[in-house]
Amino acid sequence: MSDDAVNEPEYDWQGYGFATRQVHAGEIAEAGSGARIQPIAMTAGYRFDSFDDAAGRFAGEADGLIYSRQRNPSGAVAERRIASLEGGTESIVVSSGQAALTAALFALASHGERIVSTASIYSGTRVLFGRSFARMGVSVDYVWNEFDDDEWERMITPTTKAIFTETIPNPKNDIVDIAHVARIAQRHGIPLVVDNTIATPYLVRPFEHGAAVVVHSSTKFLSGHGAALSGTIVDGGTFDWAASPRSYPLLTAPSPLGGLSFVDRYGPTAYARAAREAVVNDIGPALSPFNAFLLHQGTETLSLRMEAHLTNSVAIANWLAGHPKVESVDFAGLPDSGRAALAESLYGGRTGSVFAVTVRGGQAGARRFLNRLRVFSHMTNIGDTRSMALHPATTTHASFDPALKERLGISPGLVRLSVGVEDVGDLIADLDHALAF
Ligand SMILES: Cc1ncc(COP(=O)(O)O)c(C=O)c1O
Repeated sequence: MSDDAVNEPEYDWQGYGFATRQVHAGEIAEAGSGARIQPIAMTAGYRFDSFDDAAGRFAGEADGLIYSRQRNPSGAVAERRIASLEGGTESIVVSSGQAALTAALFALASHGERIVSTASIYSGTRVLFGRSFARMGVSVDYVWNEFDDDEWERMITPTTKAIFTETIPNPKNDIVDIAHVARIAQRHGIPLVVDNTIATPYLVRPFEHGAAVVVHSSTKFLSGHGAALSGTIVDGGTFDWAASPRSYPLLTAPSPLGGLSFVDRYGPTAYARAAREAVVNDIGPALSPFNAFLLHQGTETLSLRMEAHLTNSVAIANWLAGHPKVESVDFAGLPDSGRAALAESLYGGRTGSVFAVTVRGGQAGARRFLNRLRVFSHMTNIGDTRSMALHPATTTHASFDPALKERLGISPGLVRLSVGVEDVGDLIADLDHALAF
């Protein structure tokens, strides 16, 4: 190579480290201006090169975008970046985490079919399953003790088409042994769909433990700024849809255009293609290009933010556990949590930054505590840079009947914390002041 040779910039980030990929993966060369940051592609549609090109794109035979309900260049940066971080083959970004969950599961289960889910999941997902999924004829059965294989066997029926769980559920921080659930799913030829919102691929990559599909509320840690909603679906690319004893006709049935099924045509990206083209494109929860830009900007700092979230959380969970006004702390990384061994092996004891504290005095205690906080924001959301607190029993879980609340451990004194990246001394001082009621 001569001395004045100029290398092309890197665009294929396979094989690079996590922190490198979170900054770069998914970018493409910006031929027009050379803008270093991918310009926001504010467009609903795309000009076709010719009559034949239009038909070719619609038939899936020619490259090129069709319409932003399916795909947009700003969303594509985030999609490639998150697929790279999770170790999947392809991902799809949509307008919210709820939209991602809905599309991910509707690609698998139809009217009259069932999903088995662990019982401790995000309250909004439980409401989604119990209301909108039920109205669409998809039923959800809950496993309460996910360590109990017999309970799984009782819940899985011939019409069960997906198993769903979360890596770090909130607010109870009752972490799940993903590899164990994946083994049960594999035994039945059922895809495991994992919500990895709170752990993020920085802490755990569910595909490495046997998951088939990963979903995110990327509103949360992947964005990190709390400025915009988004959701992401990632295809692991290894589930054998055609070999499963269950049927996945959306993926395996011949397409009306050209005859080939998604599996025949796309192999390891068949699920993502089907979810994008045959679910998201039908229902329409497209992510705005501006919000997609905010998502991939946020993802650039994921590992840095996660380190700060985790260090602060371990310190705060331990501090709260020793406070006289605190009844209990639900943080799996604490030595007496009941899940400490799993917490250690999966997360080195750092089980995310969303957990619960139960203050003495029941609801009256929680009320005083929340009203006295000044640095923690009293609000519903988790996973951005600021610390946040909420009383689930009267907000997110208010519509749950008392018996269900009790079974889920949502007691009157329980407060959910999402620990941010502020100075830990300031956070502890705020909690200390709020507990001095
Ligand atoms: C674990 C989890 N999954 C999904 C969602 C839904 O995401 P969104 O609010 O982006 O629709 C949330 C929201 O809090 C969540 O915490």
